[in-house]
Amino acid sequence: MAWPRGAATKAVAEGTSRPRHVAVIMDGNGRWATERGWPRLVGHRRGAERVKQIVRACPDLGVDWLTIYAFSTENWKRSTEEVLGLMKIFRRYIQREAEEMSGEGVRMRFIGERSRLDRKLQELMASIEARTAGNTRLNLTVAINYGGRDELVRASTRLAERIVRGEVTSPSEADLADCMDTAGHPDPDLVIRTSGETRTSNFLPWQAAYSEYEFTPTLWPDFTPDHLATILDRFGLRDRRFGGA
Ligand code: IPE
Ligand code: IPE
Ligand code: MG
Repeated sequence: MAWPRGAATKAVAEGTSRPRHVAVIMDGNGRWATERGWPRLVGHRRGAERVKQIVRACPDLGVDWLTIYAFSTENWKRSTEEVLGLMKIFRRYIQREAEEMSGEGVRMRFIGERSRLDRKLQELMASIEARTAGNTRLNLTVAINYGGRDELVRASTRLAERIVRGEVTSPSEADLADCMDTAGHPDPDLVIRTSGETRTSNFLPWQAAYSEYEFTPTLWPDFTPDHLATILDRFGLRDRRFGGA
C-alpha cells in the first residue's frame, strides 16, 4: 500500500476532528531487521529512534496524549538475549531522553506491572515521572510489562480492597477505571498498530472499548510523522456514534 506523503507533518486537515489521545502498538521491529539480515535488536534500536521522532511530532499534530506499547506481559517468552537487549534499550532511552523531554514539556508516565523489572529501570522510571510531572505539552505514557488482562486483575484487586475498607459501596465503571494504571488518563480515541497484524495483543482492552482502530502494513522502524499525519487526517472522516443512533 502506498502512503500519500504529506507536505509537512502539520498537514492535518483543517476543520476535521482530531484524536486527542493516540495509542500505538509499535510492531514490526524484528521483521524490519530480519528482512535486512540483521539481528532483531537492531530493529528494536531503530524502533526507539522512531519513538523519539513520533513523540516530537505529536504536539504539532494536535495530539495531547500518546500511549505506546513497548513491552507486553507476553514478551518475556522471547529469548533472554532479546529481552535483556530490550531492557537495555529502555534504560538508555529513559536516561537520554529525560533531560530533553523535561525541557520540551513532555510529561512521561508508565503503565504496566513494575516489580518484575530490573531495580535500576524501576528507579529511572520513577525519577523521570517525578521530573516531568509539571509538564503539559504532551502526555507520553509508555506501557512496559503491560498486559490488559494483568492490569484488570490488579485493578479488580485494588477495587476489592476499597470495597472491604468501605471506601466504595456499589462499584461503578468509574470506580474500576480509577483503579487501573491509567487512572486519570482519557481513553484513547485512536489505536494504531503497525506491521500489518490485525490484533490488539492485550493492549488497553478496557480503555480502548470505544476507540477507533487503524492497522497499517508499515513496520514500526519505517513509520514516520508523515504516516501519522495521514492516519490523523483519515480519523476526521470517521463517524463516532458511541452506541447512539
Ligand atoms: C515490536 O516489534 C516490539 C516489541 C514487541 C517489543 P516485534 O519485536 O514484535 O517485531 P516483529 O513483530 O517480530 O516483526
Ligand atoms: C505487541 O506486539 C506488543 C508490543 C508491541 C510491545 P507482539 O509482537 O508482542 O504481538 P504478537 O505476539 O504478534 O501478538
Ligand atoms: Mg511483533
